[in-house]
Amino acid sequence: MTDEQSVRRVSEWDRDRLRTLANAHDTPLYVQDLERVRENCERLTAAFPDADVRYAMKAHSGRAVLETVHAAGLDAECASAGEVDRALAAGFGGDRLHYTAVNPPARDLEYVVDAAASTDGLTVTAGAVDTLDRLADRGYDGRLCLRVNPGVGAGHHEKVRTGAAAKFGVPHDRAVRVARDAVDRFDLVGIHAHAGSGIDADGLDSHRELVSRMGALARELTEPEAAAGDPDASPDPLNLEYVDVGGGFGVPYREDDAPLELDAVADATRDALGEVPGVALAVEPGRYVVADAGVLLTRVNTVKPTPDETVVGVDAGMTDLLRPAMYDAYHPIRNIGGANNEPDPADRESTPVTVAGPICETGDTFCRTRPLARPVRGDLLAVGIAGAYGYEMASQYNSRPRPAEVALNGDATVVRRRERLADLTRVEREAEPSRDGDGGPAPIDGDAGGVSR
Ligand SMILES: Cc1ncc(COP(=O)(O)O)c(C=O)c1O
Repeated sequence: MTDEQSVRRVSEWDRDRLRTLANAHDTPLYVQDLERVRENCERLTAAFPDADVRYAMKAHSGRAVLETVHAAGLDAECASAGEVDRALAAGFGGDRLHYTAVNPPARDLEYVVDAAASTDGLTVTAGAVDTLDRLADRGYDGRLCLRVNPGVGAGHHEKVRTGAAAKFGVPHDRAVRVARDAVDRFDLVGIHAHAGSGIDADGLDSHRELVSRMGALARELTEPEAAAGDPDASPDPLNLEYVDVGGGFGVPYREDDAPLELDAVADATRDALGEVPGVALAVEPGRYVVADAGVLLTRVNTVKPTPDETVVGVDAGMTDLLRPAMYDAYHPIRNIGGANNEPDPADRESTPVTVAGPICETGDTFCRTRPLARPVRGDLLAVGIAGAYGYEMASQYNSRPRPAEVALNGDATVVRRRERLADLTRVEREAEPSRDGDGGPAPIDGDAGGVSR
C-alpha cells in the first residue's frame, strides 16, 4: 500500500492473514492495522500542514490506536472525562488535549478541572453559558474554546448532523457577546464548530459555509474594524489562537464510492476560512483516521433459505457493530471462506444474501439481499471499514460479551481480550455487599461511577 492510496478497501486485506487471526483468536474479532492508522495521520497532516490536527478519539479510543496517533503528532479531542483519562494514559500531555463538553455531567467537569490543574495546557471547549458558569463555579479559569452553533450541518445521517442542532454550541448570533463575556473569566483561546460526521462530496458546500461563517466570526472577534456596526462586538481585539472547524471527513463505505480528495477539501477549507491574521486553523477528524484501518471478522453459523431471501446467520451482531442498525449504514462485506471442504470463495457463484446477527431484533442485520460469494456454514466474513465507531459503540445488550481486538503493527497483538461471561455480571457482583446489608446502593469509595485517576 502506498501513502497516496486514499482508501483501503476490504478486498485489499490479506485474506490468509485474516483467516489465521480468526482461527487463533476466535470470532467476532476486530482487526485494526496501526500502519494504516499512521498513513491516515500522515495524509491528514500533509493535506493540512499549517493546521492543528486533533484526533476525535470517540471514533476509536483503544490504547494502541491512541499511542499511534500520539506518535504521529496529532492532538486528542476528547468527548468525556473517560476519554481524557484514556488520552492522558496514552501519553498525551495537557497541551495536546482538547475536551469538548456537551451537557457535561458534574463528575466529568470535576475530573477535567482537576486534570487541568495538574496538566498544563488542557483546553476545555464549551457550548453553553450555563456550562461556562459551572466551570467558573468549580474555580476553572484556564484555556477555553467557545463552541458555536453555526446554523449549518452536514453528515451521513440526520442523527450525526450536529452543526444546526440546538443541542450543540452557543447560537451564532450570540457568539460575539458570549465570547466577550468569557474573556473576563477564562483564557479564551479559540472558537469551534462541527458540522457533523461522515461528510461526503455532496456535503462539502455545507462544510464550506460553516467554515466561512467561522472565519467571519473570528475576524469579528480579532479585528475591531471588522466588528464595526455590531453593538455586541468588543472594541478591543481578542487574542484567539485558533478556529476549530470540526471533523467529519467522510470515507467511502461503498465499493464504488469515490474517496474524498483530501487536498481539495483542505484547499476549500482554507479558502472558506479566509485570512484571520495570527489565528490558526484546527480540524478534528475521527473516522478518517481509523475507519479503513479496521475490519470485523465474523463466522457464518447458520444458512437458512426462505421463499424471499437466504438468511446467513453470523456470530457478530449489532452489539459488535451498531452502525447498520443505528444509521442504516452500509459496510462492505467479503466472504474470505474457511469452511471445510468448500471451494475458495473466488470460485463460488455470487448469490444475494441477507447477513444477520444473533440478537433478537430485526434491525440486527448487516445487509439485505446483497450479492456475496455463496456463504456456507463455517465461512468467515470480513466486514470492512469497521475501524471507526465499531468497537467503540459495542455493547453487552442481550448479555453478549464484547469481542476481542487485535492490532497489527508488523506483528499481531491482542489489545483487547474477548470479554467473558463473568465480565457481564462483574458490576453486579461488586455491588453485592450492599444487597446483603441494608438494601441501599453501595458507595464505592466516594466515586459515583465516574472516572478515577
Ligand atoms: C465535536 C466533534 N468533533 C469531531 C468529531 C469527529 O467526527 P468524524 O469522526 O466524522 O470525523 C465529532 C463526531 O461526532 C464531534 O462530535
